[in-house]
Amino acid sequence: MDKNISFTLKIWRQRGPKEKGHFDTFQMKDIPGDTSFLEMMDILNEQLVDEGKEPIVFDHDCREGICGMCSMYINGHPHGPAKGVTTCQIYMRRFKDGDTITVEPWRSAGFPIIRDLMVDRSSYDKIMQAGGYISVNTGGVPDANAIPIPKKDADEAMDAAACIGCGACVAACKNGSAMLFVSAKVSQLALLPQGKIEAARRAKAMLAKMDELGFGNCTNTRACEAECPKNISISNIARLNREFIKAKLKD
Ligand code: SF4
Ligand code: FES
Repeated sequence: MDKNISFTLKIWRQRGPKEKGHFDTFQMKDIPGDTSFLEMMDILNEQLVDEGKEPIVFDHDCREGICGMCSMYINGHPHGPAKGVTTCQIYMRRFKDGDTITVEPWRSAGFPIIRDLMVDRSSYDKIMQAGGYISVNTGGVPDANAIPIPKKDADEAMDAAACIGCGACVAACKNGSAMLFVSAKVSQLALLPQGKIEAARRAKAMLAKMDELGFGNCTNTRACEAECPKNISISNIARLNREFIKAKLKD
């Protein structure tokens, strides 16, 4: 049984995108170690509501590492201190009694703050709409193995498809670049026969939209890879660059 811990929470509060923000400090007492980070936030919000105060706004949906909604920095790390997990998969046993835990929203021009810890990530949807799909009719689901695909390619495509669009790569990057996200979305299709045909055009269109939306350029710091909760590899960025060059040559 995990023991209970007491700690100080410093949480960013901001009423709207143009308002000035500030940290509010809360003392959390006797929180069981097997409480998830978001459950701990729920406990705090129940206390705030009981006291007639405004609860903290934060995004969440699946609470099992699938939807990518629970975007926040915990002690300066996107999705907190653990590797390869999302905020909703962190348990309070990771922290020590007496700790101070600082929680902030994603800070990036591409993700404006809506309120408190909630940011607008619709720019990712716009990048997807620019080309993150297959535009030909590929028909119904084919029989397994009807289209032979080398295992290595299938595995790499599956690894790239693990991207949940959470935005931690952008939040981790000093340039605010969305290259890891775009590269995962380009790779999951470019590696498979159905997606190969449009791969170069797709890369060019998605990168153009990324630039237009104000995301920065990649300078290979690898911060994105280090903080990605799905361990997406920057080798995908190399593939994205290759597809982009192919599109430029075709032009
Ligand atoms: S590449 Fe990783 S960090 Fe970036 S959006 Fe996808 S899952 Fe999140
Ligand atoms: S709430 Fe869905 S990934 Fe965390």
